[in-house]
Amino acid sequence: MTTIGIIGAGEVGSQIARAATAAGHSVVIANSRGPETLAPLIAELGLTARAATAAQAAAAGDFVVIAVPLTLVNDMPVHELAGKVVIDTNNYMPLRDGHFPQVDSGEMTVHELRQQQLPASKVVKAFTHIQAPTLLRFARPPGAADRLALAVSSDHPDAVELAVRLQDQLGYDTVDNSPLSESWRTGPGTPVWRRSLMGGQGRAGLLRDLAAATR
Ligand SMILES: NC(=O)c1ccc[n+]([C@@H]2O[C@H](COP(=O)([O-])OP(=O)(O)OC[C@H]3O[C@@H](n4cnc5c(N)ncnc54)[C@H](OP(=O)(O)O)[C@@H]3O)[C@@H](O)[C@H]2O)c1
Repeated sequence: MTTIGIIGAGEVGSQIARAATAAGHSVVIANSRGPETLAPLIAELGLTARAATAAQAAAAGDFVVIAVPLTLVNDMPVHELAGKVVIDTNNYMPLRDGHFPQVDSGEMTVHELRQQQLPASKVVKAFTHIQAPTLLRFARPPGAADRLALAVSSDHPDAVELAVRLQDQLGYDTVDNSPLSESWRTGPGTPVWRRSLMGGQGRAGLLRDLAAATR
């Protein structure tokens, strides 16, 4: 059994926790308000889940999911995340997050920025273009005709491999959209992202929409 640390217990973090525990993993999950506030979620998830602080979740995970919007002042536990694959579900939303000049100018993608903030971790962007409430409902077994595909991006091939494995276990095919500098192709407003609001697409459609993205 793999232990997955999950930082963020909102729409995305809680849904990944539900999907991961259903797939046989254990999860250690954190929010910003403290483990005690997660008691109802832990009761729902069962014995393979526990709540912790963000640093404890990072330390406990064989790998870690960050389901928290990125901030310019890094608030993630850098030390505990060192040496680990970090799956980043963040989407850059200036109305919510404020403007990041280095992203707005095209100097770097928001996920390169996360990688810069976590220099000893292996960041992989994943689960960013599926609406969280649909994660369990849209899951399909391998080979199903209507299985959706999700893009991942990383500068680390072993992080891509891990994300592909996890997405497969949770019911999704993967298209590798690496490196992180290409991750803008799945950001808010792109064809890939817009299609996710209409139910997503399979591998062929995802490849088409990735190629159609413009900056
Ligand atoms: N919602 C979607 O369908 C969806 C889909 C794909 C990608 N995304 C992206 O994924 C990210 C998370 O989205 P969401 O919808 O899950 O957001 P959300 O519902 O607002 O949840 C954010 C979570 O992060 C926690 N948090 C914030 N700062 C933290 C910190 N410093 N340490 C630990 N936990 C912290 C919050 O804890 P508290 O509640 O205790 O403050 C909350 O549990 C965003 O970047 C979003 O754009 C969202």
